[in-house]
Amino acid sequence: MSDNPLNLSPDPQLLEGAKAAFKQAYAPYSKFRVGAALRTPDGRVYFGANVENASYGLGRCAEQSAVQAMATAGGRSFTDIVVYSEATPPASPCGACRQVLFEFAPDARVVCVNQHGDVVSGLVRDFLPHGFRLEQRDDGHEVGTE
Ligand code: THU
Repeated sequence: MSDNPLNLSPDPQLLEGAKAAFKQAYAPYSKFRVGAALRTPDGRVYFGANVENASYGLGRCAEQSAVQAMATAGGRSFTDIVVYSEATPPASPCGACRQVLFEFAPDARVVCVNQHGDVVSGLVRDFLPHGFRLEQRDDGHEVGTE
């Protein structure tokens, strides 16, 4: 994947939201702050920041925080997510976050951007080829419906 295969630029509203979330990040251990903002198909916007913990493994990434906010409010899909960090190149979603994004929106646009306007972008499915979906299993596994 090249740095910006779709040549996407960040949606201004989502960029502003991701920057605001970035300022709320709780990252006393890594000192690496990240903010994320996503938009659902009906136009609702949700935000997330990374939230670390003294028990390091319990830290939560910004992208996952945003997805949790969306899902808690009843959202089940999103079309765009902007991830803001002050790093060069801009932070791109970790492997665990890619799978969390894939659960709800394999076709969503992902735009990672930093304070210089550098961009790493693509679709969720570009970031996570062959992502796992339970309903694809053909092994007799019963998948419940909501
Ligand atoms: N982090 C995110 O929140 N999102 C990313 O895309 C990359 C990493 C967080 C996790 C941790 O709190 C800090 O950045 C350093 O890894």
